[in-house]
Amino acid sequence: MSRYAELIFEGKKYILPVVEGTEKELGLDISKLRDETGLITLDAGFKNTGSNTSAITFLDGELGILRYRGYAIEELAEKSTFLEVAHLLIYGELPNKATLSNFQKDITMHTLVHEDMRKIFDGFPASSHPMGVLASLVCALTAFYPNALDPNLSPAETDLHIIRLLAKMPTLAAWAYKNEMGHPLNYPKNSLSYCENFLQMMFAYPTEDFHPDPVVVDALDKLLILHADHEQNCSAATVRVVGSSHASLYSAIAAGINALWGPLHGGANQEVIEMLQEIHANGGNVKKYVEMAKDKNSTFRLMGFGHRVYKNYDPRAKIIKGACDNVLNKLGVSDPLLDIAKELEEAALKDSYFVERKLYPNVDFYSGVIYRAMGIPTEMFTVMFALGRLPGWIAQWREMRQMKLPISRPRQIYTGATLRPYVPMGNREK
Ligand code: CMC
Repeated sequence: MSRYAELIFEGKKYILPVVEGTEKELGLDISKLRDETGLITLDAGFKNTGSNTSAITFLDGELGILRYRGYAIEELAEKSTFLEVAHLLIYGELPNKATLSNFQKDITMHTLVHEDMRKIFDGFPASSHPMGVLASLVCALTAFYPNALDPNLSPAETDLHIIRLLAKMPTLAAWAYKNEMGHPLNYPKNSLSYCENFLQMMFAYPTEDFHPDPVVVDALDKLLILHADHEQNCSAATVRVVGSSHASLYSAIAAGINALWGPLHGGANQEVIEMLQEIHANGGNVKKYVEMAKDKNSTFRLMGFGHRVYKNYDPRAKIIKGACDNVLNKLGVSDPLLDIAKELEEAALKDSYFVERKLYPNVDFYSGVIYRAMGIPTEMFTVMFALGRLPGWIAQWREMRQMKLPISRPRQIYTGATLRPYVPMGNREK
């Protein structure tokens, strides 16, 4: 043991080994702490708890660095494609030409979903939020591919489920939107790329040829890359926790979708646009909203601001902000919400409340502005996030299973009543 920390508890010294990552991150290994001392660690929200080691994504929140498998997010967003990144995250390396071609072909061959799933789908009212529909249908895939329940599948069988998920998720996501609109469903077209196909399932009229705007296709591909993984965030941790019980891959991913839905996580992108719309409708007074966000008697927060790990500008937000003007210009769209977002950012970043707490725009702050310009409706924003995050969830799940990690089961410190006798109903005063 080269590095360690010493803990003195009730006069006795204990040695805690230090684990060091490839980027020199340090962690105390407390796995034997309870056995040796009777103590557990307490850390609500896992703010300072490492759940595992991982070779997938590196993030330095102080410096604003994000890398997938060692590649800088800026470089991947500029030069790569979403499917290349998906392969990189899941299998560890960027694919060569032949590997990518096979990966794409395999995904293309599995884009259809079983027709019986339409019956489930038909049961959802049009008022259903597309995230709820998506999570339910992804979970329902287990019923259609029941061998996914076997925790001892071969690598080839596991890969087939991974391909199915990557292939069917755009179909299910677009159908969740069609359900909301009450439109007929569009089937996948295998001649199109991953992003083109998603756009045609969302927007094509069944009777007309559909040619997605290359600007929109490129912007979508970039946004999916930027969302593809973010190490042990709430939804990835959920996928790992659910998967650690050896539930099926589909159940674990459905759980991840549900975790992402919340407004403090991926649901923030919908909330940001609703907040900007409200500011716009109320005359554009950004200062009033900055003051409200600071007021501890108000529940209002600046959505799209702040992050558990970034104490610097979120590098993804920087790229998306840069892409906003470019995409809107190319599409000939002018959106007053972009001006409000920029004003809001400027006002917040000058304010000591935000400066002291190191609250910067996060990935969700500007993404909605681009999605709006692309014609994606607000309720679909978190679905878009889920579509992008899918390879990350799969990579986290696969790594967890390959490392044979134990079932996740945190401890607690109990603070309730101590043992008391049962009081019969007639004698109870309250
Ligand atoms: N507006 C106003 N105050 C804020 C905000 C905000 N958006 N975010 C944090 N704070 C304050 C918070 O009130 C607290 O102040 P104090 O120290 O006086 O009590 C301090 O900053 C620390 O915040 P926290 O809630 O303890 O930090 P956290 O790490 O638990 O929460 C967060 C992180 C992202 C949930 C939070 O910043 C937030 O609610 N942001 C708005 C929602 C949002 O944009 N979520 C998307 C996150 S990025 C996409 C993703 O990966 O999910």
